[in-house]
Amino acid sequence: MINIEKIPVLRGDIAVSGDKSISHRAVMISSIAKGESLLRNILDGEDCRVTIDAFRRMGISVDVQADGNVIVKGKGLRGLKRSEGSLYLGNSGTSMRLLLGILSGQDFKSVLTGDPSLSKRPMKRVTHPLMLMGSSIEGADNANFAPLTICGGQLKSLSYKSPIASAQVKSSIMFAGLYADGKTMITEPYKSRDHTERMLSLFGVDVSEEGLSVSIEGLGHKELGPREIDIPADISSAAFFITLAAIAKDAEIKIKRCGINPTRAGIINVLMDMGADIEMVNKSGDSEPIADIIVKSSDLEATRVLKEQIPSLIDEIPMIALCATQAEGTTFIEGIGELRVKETDRVHSIMTNLKAFGADIVVEEDTFIIKGPKRLQGASVDSFYDHRTAMMSIIAGCIAEDKTRVSDTDCIATSFPDFMNILKALTK
Ligand code: S3P
Repeated sequence: MINIEKIPVLRGDIAVSGDKSISHRAVMISSIAKGESLLRNILDGEDCRVTIDAFRRMGISVDVQADGNVIVKGKGLRGLKRSEGSLYLGNSGTSMRLLLGILSGQDFKSVLTGDPSLSKRPMKRVTHPLMLMGSSIEGADNANFAPLTICGGQLKSLSYKSPIASAQVKSSIMFAGLYADGKTMITEPYKSRDHTERMLSLFGVDVSEEGLSVSIEGLGHKELGPREIDIPADISSAAFFITLAAIAKDAEIKIKRCGINPTRAGIINVLMDMGADIEMVNKSGDSEPIADIIVKSSDLEATRVLKEQIPSLIDEIPMIALCATQAEGTTFIEGIGELRVKETDRVHSIMTNLKAFGADIVVEEDTFIIKGPKRLQGASVDSFYDHRTAMMSIIAGCIAEDKTRVSDTDCIATSFPDFMNILKALTK
């Protein structure tokens, strides 16, 4: 449980931990590359730990050094071995969905399990296309729910039109595509985050993109070479402080070397549209663009977030909703249906908690409608065992009158173990 009070100031330069999505991919791809890869600034959160643990169980040496750098001794595309026991993937949907793609190319059986939340999340979105490619997967409701038993084999290439814009679906099929004969193509309704495309290209894979389609050639007997990877700071973690600085009084912060990949940085565009004072300086980065992000207190205006923007800010919707409670006018956030199948039903958790703080928020079909500005009152709320709901509620407590209490906050460790330390450092 965490108790929090209204903060008087928010000032300082911070470095948030490594990007969760990129960290998972770095471990996965360097495990199936051949040779020693060096990963810098990997996220040391529970979600990434379960990915590392899964590859260790499949015979890969992943050495976390004292300075936090990680050395992965990849054994090649077909160098993984069957794990003795099941592969437990905790709360991590990314681990389970992406791993299913890699395991589809392995000729041994694996059993994937997760915590109660992960066991309720839909997996058919990946198991269905993977089975079309020739993977054999079993689990409740036609391979929709973990525990899942998977046995890969010789895969056929696939041309797949995904009904949802999901990087997890796209990445899983791309990983399986590495093992398939010929060209695999995935087309999405809107573009989702492209970290897999960028990192596979960095490892030497020929990835081509045309509009909303991504194609990848099966590698046959070719292998991927090892790489050195610098993982940028996670914009999804930075988002909590970016938005707090925008809505708090007397705030000025700098977030150093943060990922600003355009398929991820939708929150920056939305906040700037709302009138937030945000500047991006020292832009650099090769495979993944990065910048220092400077944010100052500002007066915000309402906005309309469109369905096609959602994939670029899907994990930041809790914070955009919180900002909307402080903005002048009525904000609409459209196309939020996917939030219902996150670590918890986030449509419900965001509504419940923001209402407890006194916000005017309703949901109509798949749209949040939020009227602002509202003076928030401290509240006693629950995290719903969801890290992002927990952190959104703590940030709301930072601008609310009186005291706020958020329970079941251990889940924050899945993506951002340093969250409270950074918050304390900024408010000193
Ligand atoms: C992720 C993709 C998104 C996101 C999740 C991480 C990824 O999920 O919500 O936190 O690393 O590919 P979907 O692809 O299901 O939208």
